[in-house]
Amino acid sequence: MNYPFWNVPHIGSAWVIGIIAIFHMMIALFAVGGGLYLVMAESKALRDHREWLPVIRDHSKFFLILTAVFGTVSGVGIWFAIGLANPEGTSTLIHNFVFGWAIEWVFFIIELSTAAVYYYSWNRISDSLHVKVGWLYAISSFLTLVIINGILAFMLTPGDPWLAVAGTGQEASRFWQAFFNPTYFPNLAIRCLICASLAGVWALVTCSRIDGQQKPELKTSLVRWSAKWLLPTFILLPAALLWYLWKVPESQRALLQLGVSTIGTGAFTIVTRVMLIVMLTSVTIVAVTYFFALREPLEFNPGHASAVVFLALIATASGEYVRETLRKPYVIGQHMYSNSVRVKDVDRLNAEGYLTRSLWTRNGGATQLEKGEAMFRGQCMACHTVYGYRSMKRLIGERDRKAIESVLAMLHDYKPDSPYHAYMPHLAGTREEIDSLAAYLATLNPPPPTDEKAKPKTAAASAPAPKRL
Ligand code: HEC
Repeated sequence: MNYPFWNVPHIGSAWVIGIIAIFHMMIALFAVGGGLYLVMAESKALRDHREWLPVIRDHSKFFLILTAVFGTVSGVGIWFAIGLANPEGTSTLIHNFVFGWAIEWVFFIIELSTAAVYYYSWNRISDSLHVKVGWLYAISSFLTLVIINGILAFMLTPGDPWLAVAGTGQEASRFWQAFFNPTYFPNLAIRCLICASLAGVWALVTCSRIDGQQKPELKTSLVRWSAKWLLPTFILLPAALLWYLWKVPESQRALLQLGVSTIGTGAFTIVTRVMLIVMLTSVTIVAVTYFFALREPLEFNPGHASAVVFLALIATASGEYVRETLRKPYVIGQHMYSNSVRVKDVDRLNAEGYLTRSLWTRNGGATQLEKGEAMFRGQCMACHTVYGYRSMKRLIGERDRKAIESVLAMLHDYKPDSPYHAYMPHLAGTREEIDSLAAYLATLNPPPPTDEKAKPKTAAASAPAPKRL
């Protein structure tokens, strides 16, 4: 632990990132797709639907506020959260991609300025110049995705060339290989499709507010044209997802397979259930769009539009959850575990100690329980909380000290056939540190006090204990 630990009670720090990231995704991907939507809608309106123009202008105001205010604030929020929750991983990304980030900021500046110019220059500059500003926006915002996608995909699949030099100080020499890593293109394809559908989803919100009685033609044509933005996703997304999964390393897919093969047994079905949610919400979005927006555009009201936004939110959230889970137990695939321990460092930490090399535990923890708690914070709390989400108290359950020790031994030995291999990191530390962790974990569910008293002390008491009621 080179950094202090951020303890978020009940939900854990990963969910803070998750919640901010889900909102950010809904807005940031809309910022990319919506830019293209605006300029294409405007071009079409100028050709043969001039009555669309006031609606598009309204939409561009909504777009500017949502993306420039909420998009940028939530984007900074992600930096805030990842910097606190996983400083070591964040630092690796920054060091590796420093020029990538620099380029990203350039595109952000162009994107934000052109979004403002686009909105404020309606009817103030010539139509053709206005459309050019729209294209400049659309292209620069697409380029922000092109850059960030390399860095996000890298976290799941850094690729062999980068892994070969990881930790040597030569990482930057593999910038391009790391950037165009194995899942770069399928990830980009999936994101482009989501951008297009979010452009449609948010456009339907604006369209749903058009009064269909007064302007039936306007509403019909615009609702239908906007609804079509959802189509490419539903035709191509399954193929893009398969392409993506095909590029994900076997070891990461193991978790999904574990999820699928345990359907019904309740052991580890959460990923599977979440995948089902993604599918069900997607199918419902298609159904609502088809039956309401395409077939009965005049009836399409803000209630329907909100339902589509809500479903899209759930689909995005669930999709992100699956993507995050796929990466477990790593924050940077095969290189750094979610708890910031580098795979290469485990042997050294086993020999020299985990806490002894930690800058942020006082005296390496004074008592055994303090040591155990420090181990728990450092190596387990990236994914577990004590009492809340993925609660350690609940997962330890009835296990006594011996049973806890055997779980820890499995995590420490980390044999390839261990089921924990698919989702938990290699537990690092000396014998003594691991014992401290076991001692600490055993305090989470203290045995009922009656058991202590029932311990055989005298000959009479060594008779079988009476059955507990
Ligand atoms: C990368 C994330 C991650 C880290 C770090 C992590 N775990 Fe887990 N752990 C999981 C997941 C996911 C599960 C499955 C949870 C469930 O089934 O609800 C789990 C389950 C468990 C279980 C229940 C397993 C069973 O067989 O009943 C125990 C015990 C456990 N973890 C202990 C630990 C300990 C101790 C640490 C720290 C040394 C740790 N975990 C670190 C992700 C993690």
